[in-house]
Amino acid sequence: MNCSRPDSRSACRLRRPEPPNLREALQALTRELREGGVESPTVEAERLLSHVLGIDRTHLALEGGTALPVEVGKRLAGLVQRRLVGEPLQHLEGSVAFRTLELVADTRALIPRPETEQLIDLICRLVPRNRSRENSVRSVRVIRRPGADRAAESIPRALDIGTGSGAIALSLASENIAQFVVGIDISPSALEQAAENCQRAGLDARVEFRRSGVDPFSALKAGDRFGLIVSNPPYIRDDELASLPAEVRECDPPEALSGGTDGLDLVRCIAERAPDFIESSGSLFLEIGASQATAARRLFRDVGRWKRVASHPDLAGHDRFIVAEPL
Ligand SMILES: C[S@@+](CC[C@H](N)C(=O)[O-])C[C@H]1O[C@@H](n2cnc3c(N)ncnc32)[C@H](O)[C@@H]1O
Repeated sequence: MNCSRPDSRSACRLRRPEPPNLREALQALTRELREGGVESPTVEAERLLSHVLGIDRTHLALEGGTALPVEVGKRLAGLVQRRLVGEPLQHLEGSVAFRTLELVADTRALIPRPETEQLIDLICRLVPRNRSRENSVRSVRVIRRPGADRAAESIPRALDIGTGSGAIALSLASENIAQFVVGIDISPSALEQAAENCQRAGLDARVEFRRSGVDPFSALKAGDRFGLIVSNPPYIRDDELASLPAEVRECDPPEALSGGTDGLDLVRCIAERAPDFIESSGSLFLEIGASQATAARRLFRDVGRWKRVASHPDLAGHDRFIVAEPL
């Protein structure tokens, strides 16, 4: 249409712009995220668009020619603005995938990280070996199926210290690494989110959450014993907090990050107190910061109540996990 012709002016004013189709919306969104400094703009654009449309990412390409509904476009624009000021993608989506689980993600608890999935992998690799050495006193006996692995006869009770979203506790239960799990946290809002995740995963009968004070072991009773104690404690040093990416500093709860002067406050507490609550044949698994392995191992040895204290690397090669057994 030639809009310079006087008689066509009113028609031009009435004409609405065509809504973009999904392919065009995706391209524009990717560009906007890239220009806004987002690290993986293509993946994030696909995730945001499929989230607002309520369809699988793989369907985006198939539906590329479909017009983007105006209301969906407005919602998308709102989410993009929030992303560009640093809100984590998982908060915008409202969920995060963790191993086999889909967990709620919001400001109440730390967004579980891929390294913590690797911590569970390490437990899967090492625990059956540990368990076959000696059956633990309070572990639950499961009925042995013909041909079942001997190591699977006894599944421990587990303790998850600083459970946050419940990611570790719920994985231990849902993957049958533990028969029953107690998850402890100092934060009421994290425990609220963990309980929600537990209910969604249908694990209410196998996971119990308890609130503690500054001493996480204050949530335990004198006779409580666990075959497996696991923790991803807050381990950021106080002097590192200010230099964390804004996305982490402002959107993850401070109590999930701050580990004191050397970042090892809770690690120290666990090394000193966990021997009172771990079975003699049990194992302890911790996630720590990428540069803390030497200090953490020394701390465990100095307590004098642990043997076979070792650190293990994550997939990036950082010594990220501590494994220990009680003396
Ligand atoms: C790094 S987050 C880990 C959350 C979750 N386990 C995960 O791996 O995603 C640490 C958690 O420890 C909790 N926490 C911090 N200090 C604690 C304490 N003294 N006693 C119990 N929990 C504590 C925080 O509230 C937070 O949920």
